[in-house]
Formats: sequence, structure tokens, C-alpha cells
Amino acid sequence: MAEAIALRKVTKRFSGVTILDEVNLDIPAGSVTVILGPSGSGKSTLLRCINHLEKLDGGTIRIGGEIIGYKQKGQALHELSSSEIARQRAQIGMVFQQFNLFPHRTVLQNIVDAMRVKKQNRQQATSKSAVTA
Ligand SMILES: Nc1ncnc2c1ncn2[C@@H]1O[C@H](COP(=O)(O)OP(=O)(O)OP(=O)(O)O)[C@@H](O)[C@H]1O
Ligand SMILES: [Mg+2]
Repeated sequence: MAEAIALRKVTKRFSGVTILDEVNLDIPAGSVTVILGPSGSGKSTLLRCINHLEKLDGGTIRIGGEIIGYKQKGQALHELSSSEIARQRAQIGMVFQQFNLFPHRTVLQNIVDAMRVKKQNRQQATSKSAVTA
């Protein structure tokens, strides 16, 4: 199976405290992967890095071979423009833990609604979301 998401030495610090310490992770396309760990261990931070809601202090994240959030010039990485970041984010879905969900809808309905924003057919969105939820 192709590697859809590839993290290499991903490092993230907040105020000098290292939250993600050179994380290497490969997630194959089509797989369902659970990130498990105690509260505060960095699960949400890892997900936020994957759609570049957080800047990295080190390492790279690739989706389908494309570096997320940065472009490479020689050895150096330069942050992408906001429109390029938005283009990448449009390919990455994320359901938040605490907010931005409709409380009267199920998890599945919330995901389907988000996918429908991109004009996906309800039936396709529901069958794809059923795997995610
Ligand atoms: N924007 C921020 N500024 C400073 N510290 C932060 C920030 N975001 C997260 N942290 C800290 O980073 C650490 C990891 O937080 P994170 O939210 O990623 O954990 P988590 O594994 O998702 O926890 P939970 O299971 O409670 O959702 C925590 O110590 C948290 O306080
Ligand atoms: Mg969390």
C-alpha cells in the first residue's frame, strides 16, 4: 500500500518545551490509524501539524509525496504562501474534539456535512465517512 502520510523527524515545541520529539510515522493510503496516548501527550498537536495549523520546529510532513506547509529550496524549507497552504488544507479533513461540531448531529453526520461543502455526493460522502467515523 502506498504511504499517504509520511512524517520524518517531526519536532514541535511550545515555549521551549518539546511536545513532538523527532516523530517518524508512515500511514498507508486507505488505512485507519489510531493515535493513542495520555491527555497532553501531543495527539492533537500532531494532527494540527499535519494540516499546518502549527509550524514545525523540525522535520517534514509529506502527503502523497508533497511536503505540507513548506517548499524545499536546496537544503532549506520555506513556508508556503497562505493560498498554497489553503490549497493543501482543502485536501485534508479534520474533525475537532471540542468545538465546531453540530451537537444535534452524530459524528457520522458531522463528517458527511463537512464533505458535502466540497460538493460531494451524499451517498459517496456517507460511505467514505463511515470508515472514518
Ligand atoms: N498553543 C499551545 N501553546 C502552548 N502549549 C500548547 C499549545 N497547544 C498544546 N500545548 C501543550 O502541548 C501539549 C500537548 O497538547 P495536545 O493538545 O496536543 O495533547 P493531546 O494528546 O491532544 O491531549 P488530549 O488527550 O487532552 O486531547 C500539552 O502540554 C499542551 O498544554
Ligand atoms: Mg487532543
